[in-house]
Amino acid sequence: PRPQVIFSGIQPTGIPHLGNYLGALQRWVQLQNDASPETTLIYSLVDLHAITVRQDPRQLRQWKKESLAMLLAIGLDPNRSIIFHQSDVPAHAELMWILSCQASTGYLGRMTQWKDKTANERENSEKLKLGLFSYPVLQAADVLLHQTTHVPVGHDQAQHLEFARELASGFNHVYREDIFTYPETMISPAKRVMSLTDPSVKMSKSHSNPKSRILLTDDKQTIEQKIKQAMTDSLGPVTYDPQSRAGVSNLLDIVLHCDAGQTYQTVDDIVSIGNRLSLKAFKEWVAERIEQTVRPICERYADIVGEQKQLDRIAEEGAERARASARPTLHRVKETVGL
Ligand code: ADP
Ligand code: NA
Repeated sequence: PRPQVIFSGIQPTGIPHLGNYLGALQRWVQLQNDASPETTLIYSLVDLHAITVRQDPRQLRQWKKESLAMLLAIGLDPNRSIIFHQSDVPAHAELMWILSCQASTGYLGRMTQWKDKTANERENSEKLKLGLFSYPVLQAADVLLHQTTHVPVGHDQAQHLEFARELASGFNHVYREDIFTYPETMISPAKRVMSLTDPSVKMSKSHSNPKSRILLTDDKQTIEQKIKQAMTDSLGPVTYDPQSRAGVSNLLDIVLHCDAGQTYQTVDDIVSIGNRLSLKAFKEWVAERIEQTVRPICERYADIVGEQKQLDRIAEEGAERARASARPTLHRVKETVGL
C-alpha cells in the first residue's frame, strides 16, 4: 500500500481559537506524535485562502507570522512535519488552475459554505468574487498535489473533501487512472465548538465579537471573563441538551474535549460535577479547565513569537520541502494535459 500522507490547513486570519484547537490542531499534533516513520505530515498556513475575503496587507503578514508561531507552540515539530505558507509553493495555484478547467460550476454553486456566505448578496452578483466561489478547487489542489491519503478536518470541511475526490476521479478518468490519490476525510471526534456569545453558530476567527471565542493566547483573567459572560440560561442545574440548552452544552463539550479523555470519558461525567455547582461556580470551574489546556500553549507561544529569524528559517525550510513534495505530481499533471 501507499505510505500515508496527511495534509491539512488553517487560514492565517487571526490567532487560532479554542475551536480550531479542539476541532483540528490538537489532532494534527496527535497524528504527528503517533505517526509511523514512513508517514508524511504536511500542514499549511493557507494564505491564498485567506485572501478570498479582503485582508489588510500588514495585518495578514502579522497573522501569518503569529499563526506559524502558534503551530509550533501547540507542539508541531518542523523536523517531523512539513509546515509552510501556501503562497510559498506556486504549484498550489498552478494545479488549481488546471483543475478548475475540469471543475463543474454547478457543483461549486451547490456548496453549503458558498450558499451560506453569499445568502445576502445573491441578487448582487457584481459583488460576489470568483475566488470565494472557486476556493474549493484550490482546496482540492492543496490536497491532491501532495498525493494526500488522509485529511484531518472539522465537520465543516467534509463537503469540500467530497468535491476534491470527485475532481480527482474526473481527472483520472479523462486522462489516466493513476495521477491522483483519493484523499480520505478524517472528521475530528470533537464536536463543533460553538460561539460563546451565540451558541447557534460555530466559534470562528471571523466572528466580529471578540468575546465569542477563547484565543490560544488568552490569559487566565481573560478566559474567566469570557466564560463568565458566555451565554447560558437560567433553567437550573447543568444538564446536557444541545437543542434547548446550547450554551451550557457547549461549555460541557469544551471541558470534555479539553480533558481529552484524561479524567472524563463521557459528557455525563462532566454533567455529574457541574450539576452540583451553582452556575457561577460551574463557569469558574470551566474557565479553570480551559486555562489548564491553554496555558502551556500560551507560554510556548510567548517564547517563540519574537524569534523572527528562527521563524523565517522554519518557514523557508518548510517551503522547500513542500515544493519538493509537490514537484512530481505537478510535473506529471502538466505533461498529461499537454503543457
Ligand atoms: P475559522 O473558521 O475559525 O477561520 P479555519 O477555516 O481556518 O477556521 O479552519 C481551520 C480548522 O479548524 C478546520 O479544520 C476547521 O474545520 C476547524 N474549525 C474551525 N472552527 C471550528 C469550530 N468552531 N469547532 C471545531 N472545529 C473548527
Ligand atoms: Na473557516
